[in-house]
Amino acid sequence: MSSSSKASDGGEQQRLVCVTGAGGFIGSWVVKELLQRGYRVRGTARGPADCKNAHLLALEGAKERLTLCRADVLDRDSLRAAFAGCHGVFHVASPVSNDPELVPVAVEGTRNVINAAADMGARRVVFTSSYGAVHMDPNRSPDAVLDETCWSDYEFCKKTDNLYCCAKMMAEITAAEAAARRGLELAVVVPCMTMGPMLHQPRSVSSNHHVALYLMGIKETYPNAVAAYVDVRDVARAHVLVYERYPASRGRYLCIGTVLHRAQLVAMLKEFFPQYPVTARCEDDGMPMAKPYKFCSQRLKDQSLEFTPLRKSLYEAVLCMQHKGHLPAIKPQQQRAYL
Ligand SMILES: NC(=O)c1ccc[n+]([C@@H]2O[C@H](COP(=O)([O-])OP(=O)(O)OC[C@H]3O[C@@H](n4cnc5c(N)ncnc54)[C@H](OP(=O)(O)O)[C@@H]3O)[C@@H](O)[C@H]2O)c1
Repeated sequence: MSSSSKASDGGEQQRLVCVTGAGGFIGSWVVKELLQRGYRVRGTARGPADCKNAHLLALEGAKERLTLCRADVLDRDSLRAAFAGCHGVFHVASPVSNDPELVPVAVEGTRNVINAAADMGARRVVFTSSYGAVHMDPNRSPDAVLDETCWSDYEFCKKTDNLYCCAKMMAEITAAEAAARRGLELAVVVPCMTMGPMLHQPRSVSSNHHVALYLMGIKETYPNAVAAYVDVRDVARAHVLVYERYPASRGRYLCIGTVLHRAQLVAMLKEFFPQYPVTARCEDDGMPMAKPYKFCSQRLKDQSLEFTPLRKSLYEAVLCMQHKGHLPAIKPQQQRAYL
């Protein structure tokens, strides 16, 4: 069965599920995937009536099967109200920030979500972690394969001011401990740098941001570094797949499509959009190039997830940023063969 087709087993889709942070980049795609598969969905936002969430109500199936409600992860009563009657909760909401004041929001917010889900009789939670909780370990051998057993080095993240990684590590551990204590079924999706078209109209362009900066030549150089990428639609599918395949699916699911050197990313941009003044110089000119590390997303592939090629995600992300006014629209010279 294709990972995007409707599952036919178990009547899961008749059930009500809740998505926290429904209006964000990933949350919006999770809502869309659930609606497409026939679920009844309740989405939370801190300002559900805010125009930044209006795109959700325009999704196919939203009129019949989507409601939005107000919830803050620090307000337990609002979470309990949001989860009433839900069989499952997708906990996507989190501050995406290195601000030290927001670390407790990610961690306590996660504890509150798990407890509220258990209080209201939900059975399953899917938690959105981050590869920031997995790959930041300076002592990992370059030959080691990054997989679900890996954790970032907390002290290293703290010392290097990667407080977002600290927050996601602590939030994930909190989710696992609280779910075990409360008898909830938990699956954890661990996405890396998430790319692709946006359903929402963000104030900034989140993880597509560095692409916009390179495309416009605003960054004078790119780093001599590698990064892991995944398409936002694959991340959303992964959430729903691991939700539906419980108890066969539990624990962590590393969600990585590819690992690339920044030079390769920039070369793709130049190839697709030669009209833009794409950043062309590496900050480490003349030094040996950082090598891509090995990774294993086999657990998700075993759930029939097929990863979208980064070329497609990147191309569609740029078209979307043009469409939403984050980039001046300069058309590519020709339609690319893969599309
Ligand atoms: N984008 C990536 O590359 C990436 C990679 C790995 C993991 N992730 C994880 O994926 C999740 C979603 O990230 P994203 O990229 O979609 O970010 P995003 O667009 O900024 O969405 C974040 C969401 O969190 C919500 N939120 C923040 N603070 C909240 C609070 N106190 N109470 C309730 N909701 C709150 C926001 O809701 P409001 O509408 O109420 O502001 C927003 O909908 C996060 O858990 C992030 O750590 C993202």
